[in-house]
Amino acid sequence: MFIKCLSTMRALFPGVCLLLFGLAAGSFRVRVPPHEQVARVARFVAHQCDWASMATISSHKPVVGQPFSNVFSVSDGPPGFSSGVPYMYLTRMEISVQDLEVNQQASLSMSLAQTAYCRQQGFDPQSPLCAHIILSGSVLEVNSTEAEFAKKALFTRHPEMIDWPSDHDWFFAKFNITQVWVLDYFGGVKTVSPEEYYQASPN
Ligand SMILES: *[C@@H]1O[C@H](CO)[C@@H](O)[C@H](O)[C@H]1NC(C)=O
Ligand SMILES: *[C@@H]1O[C@H](CO)[C@@H](O)[C@H](O)[C@H]1NC(C)=O
Repeated sequence: MFIKCLSTMRALFPGVCLLLFGLAAGSFRVRVPPHEQVARVARFVAHQCDWASMATISSHKPVVGQPFSNVFSVSDGPPGFSSGVPYMYLTRMEISVQDLEVNQQASLSMSLAQTAYCRQQGFDPQSPLCAHIILSGSVLEVNSTEAEFAKKALFTRHPEMIDWPSDHDWFFAKFNITQVWVLDYFGGVKTVSPEEYYQASPN
């Protein structure tokens, strides 16, 4: 809505744009589940975030064997259809994916600092009140059945992926979660098992 507003209407109706912007900014009121419902908070954060930091064990000189953190677009489902599974669209030409070919273990982190929420609430990204999660597990290529959902999940939220160069041999992968770590309140990190995580409602 803003883009259209900015590109086509700004010159003609600046007041309308300002009004629309005000309404939209006010309507972005994400409802974070209560902090004690830790699994729900984790599902909520995983669905809100469009990207994640992924740490792999580097296979590249001069940092072989050291953690290597990189940014990836993720989606656990189209908006409103959360599966809890972070899907990714990857190519073996990519540096972190090359690490995964040596060691598929990885860690993903996502934070409500990636949404307008923490800024609006005045929560610093490192504050536990700015809910964030760390996922431990491994990255696995998905089979063709699951790839259909992964494609829907990713392409609805990252439309430019459709045009990524076809000679890069893109494939769909998922983050197979073995442990969920949640920072959503004071008192230290809390853990959630994959079973609890997948059973929880993200809304
Ligand atoms: C594909 O993977 C999903 C999820 O792991 C599994 O439930 C399904 O049985 C698999 N399908 C085939 C055809 O292997
Ligand atoms: C995927 O995660 C489950 C726990 O949710 C674990 O039991 C399983 O071993 C993992 N699979 C692989 C291939 O890492």
